[in-house]
Amino acid sequence: MSEMLEKARKYEREESVKIEKENRPVFHFSNPIGWMNDPNGFSEYKGEHHLFFQYYPYATHWDSMHWGHAKSEDFIRWEYLPAALAPDCDYDCFGVFSGSAVEDRGQQILVYTGVKESLPENGEKCIRQNQCIAVGDGINYKKLDNNPIVTADMLPEGSSMEDFRDPKIWKEDGRYYMVAGSRSSDGSGQIALFYADELDSWKYANILDRSENKYGKMWECPDFYPLDGKQILMISPQEMYAEGLEFHNGNNTAFLIGTYDKEKLQFSREKIQSVDYGLDFYAPQSMQTEDGRRIMIGWMQSWDNPMYPDTQRWSGMMTIPRELFIRDGRICQRPVRELDKFRQKPVTHKDICVQKETELEGIEGRSIDLELILKGNEYGKFKIKLVADERFYSEIIYDREDGILTFDRTHSGFKRDTISTRSMQAESIYDELQLRILVDRYSVEIFVNDGERVMTSLIYTPVNASKISFASDGRAYIDVTKYGIEV
Ligand code: FRU
Repeated sequence: MSEMLEKARKYEREESVKIEKENRPVFHFSNPIGWMNDPNGFSEYKGEHHLFFQYYPYATHWDSMHWGHAKSEDFIRWEYLPAALAPDCDYDCFGVFSGSAVEDRGQQILVYTGVKESLPENGEKCIRQNQCIAVGDGINYKKLDNNPIVTADMLPEGSSMEDFRDPKIWKEDGRYYMVAGSRSSDGSGQIALFYADELDSWKYANILDRSENKYGKMWECPDFYPLDGKQILMISPQEMYAEGLEFHNGNNTAFLIGTYDKEKLQFSREKIQSVDYGLDFYAPQSMQTEDGRRIMIGWMQSWDNPMYPDTQRWSGMMTIPRELFIRDGRICQRPVRELDKFRQKPVTHKDICVQKETELEGIEGRSIDLELILKGNEYGKFKIKLVADERFYSEIIYDREDGILTFDRTHSGFKRDTISTRSMQAESIYDELQLRILVDRYSVEIFVNDGERVMTSLIYTPVNASKISFASDGRAYIDVTKYGIEV
């Protein structure tokens, strides 16, 4: 093991135990110490779920990237494992960037982007991003001697030599495949497909899809998988413009839904769909469980709007892992069913008529799973105030006539001016809107109409703010059940 990795492992072991459990989210993954961004290597290995992540243990800001590591049997309770990779080779000395993992013949194969920055003779900085492999046993990994194994000169002419990253690997019919993000000659995103019969000998196959300057510039963190009869190319485009309520300016995430011709290795896109409508969601990655479910997890944060309290010694969280499925042509998301086992002490109120601000006995909390059905057509706006105390609250506002749901964290306790609201379409079906709201100490995830649309946002409101109230400008009726989540 390199000195650099040993140092990271020692540091995280000694420092992470100093963080009290009470200062972490209850049922969302947070990093042991320091900085975390993208999920990496989210996959099954020897019957357990593994999660790696972009990691800088020594400070709460992005810096020289390592891979952190954890595993779980249920997607909710995670056990930290020692950091898996450090930027300790010449070809990855600037950072071990995002990538993925696959189990193969008892070994765990990690594929990542090795970033090298050097100053050549003419004095201009030269950045190279290439794909590399490390093989291990679930704890320790050895980088291949002939890394990097996929280099940018294998891409079609005119492709960027600098932006080429985030490989996602899978194995199918005895062959390895990999997709990676890149920029084509028009400067905007493209996703390249490669294949290999041996891990260290890869060939370029095809460009699966390209932005053509329509959906942002660089396409980061691609993932490519079948789902309910369709093929999904999931991407995280940078520098994208908002389109109505779809997308937002800056870093986005999108599902490209289409079909895949496995013989010709060609993807045909039919449509594009936003992955999440919240303020804090980026770089999702998926895996398939042994029982055949496609589970996605995302970084619950955003490059454009990063925030965490100055006093906190860890700075990253992941979303609740979500089951993906297609209904009526849309990709829908539900919290993993494993979360149900942690739901405690349900409190239910049925057919409550809500007019002025109303609190309901037992409906409150800061680690909860709240199910709500909003009924009727005799109101215009319905509001839910949550994580509230005398001073702070976050608000969900439903405009029934426009069919628009807004999350507003203007009063959630931020000292700095950060983006505070986002809205999305949310149709009442036969005058009923179904909401499932996961509230943890530092986050709110809102699932509408059984996962048709999802909104993920962070809040850093003081943790004892836990009240919930409802109000409408007419007569709205609700059925509500609250479960406490105890882990
Ligand atoms: C996405 C990303 C990736 C890159 C990583 C670096 O958030 O920019 O493209 O590999 O973060 O930490």
